[in-house]
Amino acid sequence: MRLAVLASGTGSILEAIVDAGLPVHLVVTDRPCGALDLAASLGISTRIVERDSFGDDFDRNAYTVDLVDVLVKAGTDLIAMAGFGTILAKPAYDKFADRILNTHPALLPAFPGWHSVAEAMVHGVKVTGCTVHVATLEVDSGPILAQEAVSVLPDDDEESLHERIKMVERRLYPETIRAVLENRTLLMGEYA
Ligand code: GAR
Repeated sequence: MRLAVLASGTGSILEAIVDAGLPVHLVVTDRPCGALDLAASLGISTRIVERDSFGDDFDRNAYTVDLVDVLVKAGTDLIAMAGFGTILAKPAYDKFADRILNTHPALLPAFPGWHSVAEAMVHGVKVTGCTVHVATLEVDSGPILAQEAVSVLPDDDEESLHERIKMVERRLYPETIRAVLENRTLLMGEYA
């Protein structure tokens, strides 16, 4: 199985995936970012499929078609989103149905979206966590593969809480990807 990672941020989750010995054959980012630099420094093939807009004129479908083309040409079997900052459109899920994984810094279905750590804090929850799931067209709502709780501490701010969640993600996400690669978890349309 050829594993591609999509990222937009610092790349700390990507680094954990690589450190776990998973066979990352390609890293694609949507912008220049730490994850891109990290992948290059590790000798992994990289591609930027750069967004031309973050506004209302962004053509999400055309962007997704370009990204899918890169992934298909690289012979990708499985995709792991690791803090990827662009919501993908239907062509991605048509081509890679049940083969796109995501890690999210909250206990889904609570706090979907881009501000999940801040929203959990504003809501005053005492426990949050992370979720590894199969990505689907509806954002942050695909079948859940793994979850783990993280306590919110009295003196937490968004940064400290997110960092503790990421410490869990750096273990749980590689473990779950490995299980998928080794066929030890339900995937490929096996859900009831
Ligand atoms: C991770 O916490 C991941 O769950 C989150 O971005 C972070 C990436 O960290 N993804 C999302 O919020 C997607 N909705 P990194 O840049 O340090 O690898």
